Amino acid sequence: MSNFPVKPIPRRDFLGTVSKASLGAVLGGMAASQGVQAGSSPAAKKWAPVSARKIRMGIVGHGVCQFGAAFGFQDHPNVEVAAVSDLIRERREGLMRACRCEKSYESLEVLIKDKTIEAVFVATDAPNHARHCIEVLKSGKHVMTAVPAVFGSLEDAEELVETVEKTGLKYQMAETSCFREDCYAMRRVYHAGGFGRIIYSEGEYYHYSPTPIPSYKGWRVGMPPLWYPTHSTAYYIGVTGKRFTSVSCRGFSAGFDAYKPGGNRYDNPFSDEVALFGTSEGGSSRMLMCKGVYGVVIETGRVYGEKGWMEETKYQGTAKELPEITRPALPEGMPAGGHGGSHGPLANEFVTAILEDRMPMVNVYEALAMTVPGIVAHQSALKDGETLKVPQYLRPKA
Ligand SMILES: NC(=O)c1ccc[n+]([C@@H]2O[C@H](COP(=O)([O-])OP(=O)(O)OC[C@H]3O[C@@H](n4cnc5c(N)ncnc54)[C@H](O)[C@@H]3O)[C@@H](O)[C@H]2O)c1
Repeated sequence: MSNFPVKPIPRRDFLGTVSKASLGAVLGGMAASQGVQAGSSPAAKKWAPVSARKIRMGIVGHGVCQFGAAFGFQDHPNVEVAAVSDLIRERREGLMRACRCEKSYESLEVLIKDKTIEAVFVATDAPNHARHCIEVLKSGKHVMTAVPAVFGSLEDAEELVETVEKTGLKYQMAETSCFREDCYAMRRVYHAGGFGRIIYSEGEYYHYSPTPIPSYKGWRVGMPPLWYPTHSTAYYIGVTGKRFTSVSCRGFSAGFDAYKPGGNRYDNPFSDEVALFGTSEGGSSRMLMCKGVYGVVIETGRVYGEKGWMEETKYQGTAKELPEITRPALPEGMPAGGHGGSHGPLANEFVTAILEDRMPMVNVYEALAMTVPGIVAHQSALKDGETLKVPQYLRPKA
């Protein structure tokens, strides 16, 4: 972790300072040498509907993380949860209860035949995300998926982007780091010019797991760490919208059974992977996923640019004007949810993108730009850190 000589304004003082002014105005008055703690806006934001329409949604997947119900779609005023599904009956019934929904189907494949459903949240096992999303899109429905967008397959990435483009439907990956308070603030500051180009960034997902977390058909057992990179890579891609262009990655084995020879279906020896990416801005980015570091479970990151930098929610830099950095408001009664209060904002973003007929923030191009570099990083780790090129997924020009 970095150790800069920062003297941030204590949160209490900062909030006191902003009580009569917008955050933009306060930051505008800051000297370059001061730090600032981002936080709640003095005037609490209020959610305003963009439409009175209700989207009929299907929700699929109530596994170990019970993720289908965790994003609060059932509490969004523009959503009616029309039906749910999980292959396992008890889980299906649990999902019905959690979503207060009376209709269920025995599988995603059956659910998508329901022509009254307009959009589906895919919270199934990671190896099936790409296939499931492609099937949902081909059935004429918008789709939001749990991370990662694809699982170790560059071919799936190609097919996914082609299907989104062909169908013209909305696709969003629910990368939780993108709507954490710090990452959200970094994105706002970046696009307002507060960092300039990012010289260096770091993202990390530590999840100490001497024995694998349970999963459907054991997909987590011995999984290559950076096939699950998005909680980390969000701290560059999700901040800047720029891209990783090359990677060199090192792997490490903490000696857990799942990574011993024959211990997993992926032929993967690494419990920990640390990658150094080159970026399209000419900078570098260190992204990691580690399961072997004793006792640590954390998802975080930071960015350092030519005009300023940010750790947690503390900004330090030269900017004279910066925008509002608090996250968008949620409908009354909709919980912000887990992973740093990111679930609710992600669901709200997906719903609003459908209603406004625009691309969601974590669209297919950003989703693949966060996911695919990790797949290439694992290839590099298997080649003892050889530098490899990263395929590019660029948003079409508006
Ligand atoms: N911070 C985060 O963003 C975060 C955190 C936790 C989990 N996740 C993601 O959420 C997803 C779900 O995680 P989990 O631990 O609950 O997974 P899991 O493997 O425990 O469960 C997956 C569920 O999907 C169901 N399923 C599979 N195929 C199906 C089909 N065709 N039709 C209906 N149901 C089907 C299975 O029956 C199972 O209950 C994973 O992809 C994981 O990567 C993301």
